[in-house]
Amino acid sequence: MPHRIIFDTDSAVFNDDAAALAMLAGRPDVVDILGVTVVAGNYPVPQGAEHMLHLLELIGADDIPLYLGAESPLVNSPAQAARQEARWGPVSFKGAFDAGDQVGPPHGGRFAAARPRATGAVPFLIDTIERHPHEVTLVAVGPMTNVALALRQRPDLAPLVKRLVFMGGNARVPGNVTPAAEFNLWFDPEAAQAVLALPIPDTVMFGLDVTNHAPLRKPLFDRMVATDTPLTRLMRHDMAPRFDTDTAATYQVWDCITAAWLIDPSIVTVSERLPIAVDTTFGPTYGGTSVAAGTPPARTIEVMLDVDREKFFALYEALLTRRL
Ligand code: RIB
Ligand code: CA
Repeated sequence: MPHRIIFDTDSAVFNDDAAALAMLAGRPDVVDILGVTVVAGNYPVPQGAEHMLHLLELIGADDIPLYLGAESPLVNSPAQAARQEARWGPVSFKGAFDAGDQVGPPHGGRFAAARPRATGAVPFLIDTIERHPHEVTLVAVGPMTNVALALRQRPDLAPLVKRLVFMGGNARVPGNVTPAAEFNLWFDPEAAQAVLALPIPDTVMFGLDVTNHAPLRKPLFDRMVATDTPLTRLMRHDMAPRFDTDTAATYQVWDCITAAWLIDPSIVTVSERLPIAVDTTFGPTYGGTSVAAGTPPARTIEVMLDVDREKFFALYEALLTRRL
């Protein structure tokens, strides 16, 4: 029986949230996507939703319902981010904090026919976990605001989640938006801290420790876009500019590694159970994660550390170049 999942995303044009969703939707024998919930992160929610609706239409999966979620983090804000930068140096990517209010049509110039559901992401999360106790895997590939809000409202549901699989954090490697912090956890550290403290039976972290091991390079990109499908045309539109200007460029495909593992867990070659702490003190290490020492100990979670690059990219290529 396929795993029932909710895909909680901060969206992308293609790389990497949209590519991850396209991969998962390509294996309905393994994964049953009950819904897509959108959270602010890479993009503001209304724009992110349009990207994901476009993707779902493109791959013929627009029967998967999409729900709009939290438009801002629990505490972090554009003003706070500006104060952080003024005092402790640049945050290299601030996603939705730097975006305007205007919602543009996704690539292709027209909005998808399917619209977001009237229910919000938080009620959908609550209702779905309640209806399928011990069966729902939450796949959180953006800031964890939606998950935190749902489980703050209904903490009794945390033990009824089957598993939380999240992309974010950095256990033993530097961050990617500040020296200390990875983007998803920097955008909403308070949400991540709250969620990681909950008694969810199984939590799996795909942080930069593992995702750094599998950058996408131009030769594979070129081979994939040469297949010229609707999906690889979107891939080309989104990712070619960087490769065109720098043939040695690389792309991190963070969320896609999380998606690939849900389809084939054997892609991960090293993992450890570790107590992970999230730094929520407003300072230079805000949003950073570390292996916790001290008392009381943080809850122990499964932290993915290395990946079989060839196996991962074989799956990535096969799923994203499939004929639709
Ligand atoms: O740091 C990488 C993460 O931040 C990915 O999930 C990417 O999509 C952005 O959300
Ligand atoms: Ca993401």
